[in-house]
Amino acid sequence: MPSHTGDSSLPAAIREEAAQLHSLLHHHNKQYYVEDAPEIPDSEYDRLFYRLKAIESDYPQLMTPQSPTQRVGAQPISAFKQVVHLKPMLSLDNAFSDSDMQAFDKRVRERLKSDDSVEYSCEPKFDGIAASVIYKNGKLDVAATRGDGLVGENITHNMRTIGSVPLELTCDNAPVLLEVRGEVYMPKAGFERINRQAIEKGDKPFVNPRNAASGGLRQLDPKITAKRPLVFCAYSLGVVEYASEQTPLLTHSDTLNYLEELGFVVSKERSVAINIDACHIYYEQLAQKRAALPYEIDGIVFKVNRFDLQDTLGFVSRAPRWAIAQKFPAQEELTTVNHVEFQVGRTGSITPVAKLAPVFVGGVTVSNATLHNRDEVNRLGICIGDTVIIRRAGDVIPQIVSVVVGKRPSTSQVITFPASCPECGSDVVEVEGEATLRCSGGLVCPAQRKEAIKHFCSRKALNVDGLGDKVISQLVDKNHISNPAQLFDLNKEMLSSLDRLADKSAANIISALEQAKTTTLPKFIYALGIREVGVATANNLAHHFYTLHAISDASLDALEEVSDVGPIVAKYVYEFFNQADNILVVEQLIKAGITWPAIAKPAEGSQSLANQTYVITGSFEGISRDEIKAILEQQGAKVAGSVSKKTQFLIAGEKAGSKLTKAQDLGIEILHQADLTALLNRLKA
Ligand code: IVH
Repeated sequence: MPSHTGDSSLPAAIREEAAQLHSLLHHHNKQYYVEDAPEIPDSEYDRLFYRLKAIESDYPQLMTPQSPTQRVGAQPISAFKQVVHLKPMLSLDNAFSDSDMQAFDKRVRERLKSDDSVEYSCEPKFDGIAASVIYKNGKLDVAATRGDGLVGENITHNMRTIGSVPLELTCDNAPVLLEVRGEVYMPKAGFERINRQAIEKGDKPFVNPRNAASGGLRQLDPKITAKRPLVFCAYSLGVVEYASEQTPLLTHSDTLNYLEELGFVVSKERSVAINIDACHIYYEQLAQKRAALPYEIDGIVFKVNRFDLQDTLGFVSRAPRWAIAQKFPAQEELTTVNHVEFQVGRTGSITPVAKLAPVFVGGVTVSNATLHNRDEVNRLGICIGDTVIIRRAGDVIPQIVSVVVGKRPSTSQVITFPASCPECGSDVVEVEGEATLRCSGGLVCPAQRKEAIKHFCSRKALNVDGLGDKVISQLVDKNHISNPAQLFDLNKEMLSSLDRLADKSAANIISALEQAKTTTLPKFIYALGIREVGVATANNLAHHFYTLHAISDASLDALEEVSDVGPIVAKYVYEFFNQADNILVVEQLIKAGITWPAIAKPAEGSQSLANQTYVITGSFEGISRDEIKAILEQQGAKVAGSVSKKTQFLIAGEKAGSKLTKAQDLGIEILHQADLTALLNRLKA
């Protein structure tokens, strides 16, 4: 009987066997999920897995979080926490043609002041979800989504379940800190398998592999993620720190090789092109191979291979100047418009939607396409019965590009907009200066009610888990609720009486509603669904006025003082809070127990940057000048447009010109990108 008191009692042979099992299981995971080429039958995999489990049960000290047996062990989490990226996660500029690519190469060489050809690293552009994984002392520590590029969501519990994410790095000299970036995708075969299973069970299939991957990563319960066949393919390094000095990596292609040595999956299709013409050849070859690849790609990414050249080139706003994604041409197909339906949105907007003969385009079956508004219908000159060209590129929603007028049948019909709302019969009104028609029914209209409630429950609003569209529709249709506040009067019995809603789901909804009661002021304001008030505006309103009361009491002028709020948005906010029905709903929501932590209102002059004057010039990695300005102003700073003796700090990014020279002449303190990052982190802390 082994003792469990520590490493000393652990026989060396057992330790070695466990280590071998770790690496064998990691290898076979990769073969199965990534290469789609299992080398051993499932039964053999199970044998290895259960042998390791048995060893760990005898010697629990071996059961580290890095063990392959622990991938699905974590408990569900209650909410995603935020992760501030160590370095911003940038995005890529797109090229759509060879001439765009030639122009990119020309820009690169001009900036490098070089007549020589530039070497590019080439790799597929995976159609998945960007993620970052951080290792501390060789062990997986944190994983996050890209989010807005600066702050993402903590998805460590889910990334651990992905077989191709090493839990531990396979090298002797692991960095003390390593940040790896890459894409999580679902291979085509896995996607087809889970969709087959979903259909067999009577569940709704996923639209495409990208959605399935994204949904898989955004699960609170890692056991659900573990059932999705996901792959993490590394495509770059973020921050790396070693305990001792190392020979630096000089190129992107060497970095990919290094990542592979560390145990990451790296694209097998990667290559190095000696110049832009070789990039073209690579593009053509991969485009040919695209359909046969085991995963979806939507283009090719080309990156200047040498890091010293990348550094010289820098970046503009959110995209590096040294990389570009050449997208495959949008995929287009022909189909016919069977009829046009008018959908009523949250704010009463009436949107014509073309119902199409289903057509497979860009990897999905499309049967609806929005026609947006009357202007668009007129622009296209579209009729019911027409043959149309439909386009879908990447993850962009399908679009009707044009009508094939020559194929118009004699039975075609002109599209007429309804005079009354198709949902509630109220008059349809035309607002001057708007192309959109609106239902005048307000919350009398069931469609508007449903949309308002859906919005209230959505992820960025109160995030009521489990309360899907179908349940909301039934609740409204059966007159159980007519506004978001009444959600909190629902009980389990009422929910269980709805079609296809089991007792357990009803209980989950009740507890999700209970949890949703604790929120933040910005989320609450966003959840109210005020026209044109998105997440950013709701946030600005909350941090400008600090309390709901102050927002609802604000005058039009006061509202216009809020960052990014112009006269139109100010009017919508003002009208919302001066309408009796809305005031009542807000009161009922508060009475139902919705609360949020107070936003600390700094005493006059106590904001951390009060009385400081900044000027911002140039461009910055991962953040725009306007965003920096908004953050500084929130902290009481004054941000001026030009440098003067009164300026205390100049924040100077890439391409800073005369302002920088003037500030230097005046001896003003200059903050560069690194100082800015430190300042922003300090303000966030
Ligand atoms: S590199 C600074 N490489 O494309 C460069 N991105 O539009 C940052 N993507 O959000 C990205 N495959 O998720 C890079 N081989 C690849 C990629 C790739 C897919 C995604 C990535 C990013 C988006 C940028």
